[in-house]
Amino acid sequence: MLIKRRRGWELPESQATPEAVFFDRRKLLLGMGAAGIAASAGWRPAWGATDAAAVAADLYPAKRNPAYELGRDMTEEKVATSYNNFYEFGTSKNIVKPAQALTLKPWQVKIDGMVAKDITIDAEDLIRKMPVDERLYRHRCVEAWSMAVPWTGFPLRALVDFAAPMSGAKYLKMETFSRPQEASGQKQFWYPWPYTEGLTIEEARNELAYIATGIYGKPMPKQNGAPLRLAVPWKYGFKSVKSIVRFTFTDKRPKTFWEALQDGEYGFWANVNPMVAHPRWSQATEEVIGTGKRIPTQIYNGYGEQVAELYKNLGSEKLFM
Ligand code: MTE
Repeated sequence: MLIKRRRGWELPESQATPEAVFFDRRKLLLGMGAAGIAASAGWRPAWGATDAAAVAADLYPAKRNPAYELGRDMTEEKVATSYNNFYEFGTSKNIVKPAQALTLKPWQVKIDGMVAKDITIDAEDLIRKMPVDERLYRHRCVEAWSMAVPWTGFPLRALVDFAAPMSGAKYLKMETFSRPQEASGQKQFWYPWPYTEGLTIEEARNELAYIATGIYGKPMPKQNGAPLRLAVPWKYGFKSVKSIVRFTFTDKRPKTFWEALQDGEYGFWANVNPMVAHPRWSQATEEVIGTGKRIPTQIYNGYGEQVAELYKNLGSEKLFM
C-alpha cells in the first residue's frame, strides 16, 4: 500500500483550508459580532431551524440509537450550527445568514442511473419512508478541526435498498442543488458546481454511512445542509455532501468537487489517517472546535472497527487522501 508518511508539522491555522482561500479567525469573530447585532435588530440565527420551511418537522426528536457513542463531549449546538463549510454560500465559516436564502419546499430528490426505474420523490416523502433514528457521530474536517454532534437521519443503506440498483452499479454519486440565484457562491464559475461526492456501493451500504436530516433533535438548519446531507464520519468532512438533490448509481468512479479542483490534495477516498499529512499540513492532531483544545487524530476517526474491512483489498489505492 502506498502511504506517504510525512513528518508531522503544525500548520498555521490560516492555511488549514481545503483551498487557497484562507480562513481568517478575526473575520469570523467580526462576522459573529455582526450576527449578534442583526439578532438584536430582529433577525434570528437559524440554529433552531423550527421555521415553517423545516422538512418533516414532526419527526424530531427521534429515538437515539445507543450503538453510537462519542467518546468525548458533544459540541455545543450554537457552535456546530454557526461554524460551517458551505461554499455555495461563501468561503468563510460564517454563512448562517446567506444560507437562509435556500428554499427547502418543494425539495425534489432524483434517484437515477443504474436502477431499474428512475425515482423522483419529495424529500419529505423520502424521509418518511426511511427508518429514522438519532446518532452521535464525530466529525473531522480535513482542515484539522473536529466536532461531535447528534445527527438525526437514516442509514444510507436504506436508500440504496429503496433504489434497488442493478448488480453492475459500483458507485453512488451524490450532488448538491444548483441554484446560483439562491446561493451566490455558485456564481463563482471557477468552481466545478454542483458540489459532487461519491462512495463505493460497499461504503454506501456500511452501517455508518448516514443521511442526516436533522441535528440536536431538530430539523437540519440550512447552513448544515438541509434538508438532507451525507454523514460518513470515518472520512474527512468534505465527503459529507450537503443539501443533496440527486443520487446516481453508476459503474464509473465519479469525479468529486474537490478532486476536480485539486486532485493532488483531495482524493476520492479521503479516509481519516493521522499518519498521512495533507500536502500542506499535518493531520496528526485536530482542534476540537468550541473547546480551544487539540487532541490526537485517530485512524478512520476512531471508526476502524466498522470500516477497516472495506479497504482490505484496495492496497494500491490512495485510501487516505
Ligand atoms: N457540501 C456542500 N454542498 N458544499 C460544501 O462546501 N463542505 C464540506 C461538507 N459538505 C461542503 C459540503 C466540508 S469541507 C465540510 S468540513 C462539511 O460539509 C462541513 O459540515 P458542517 O458545516 O455541518 O460542519
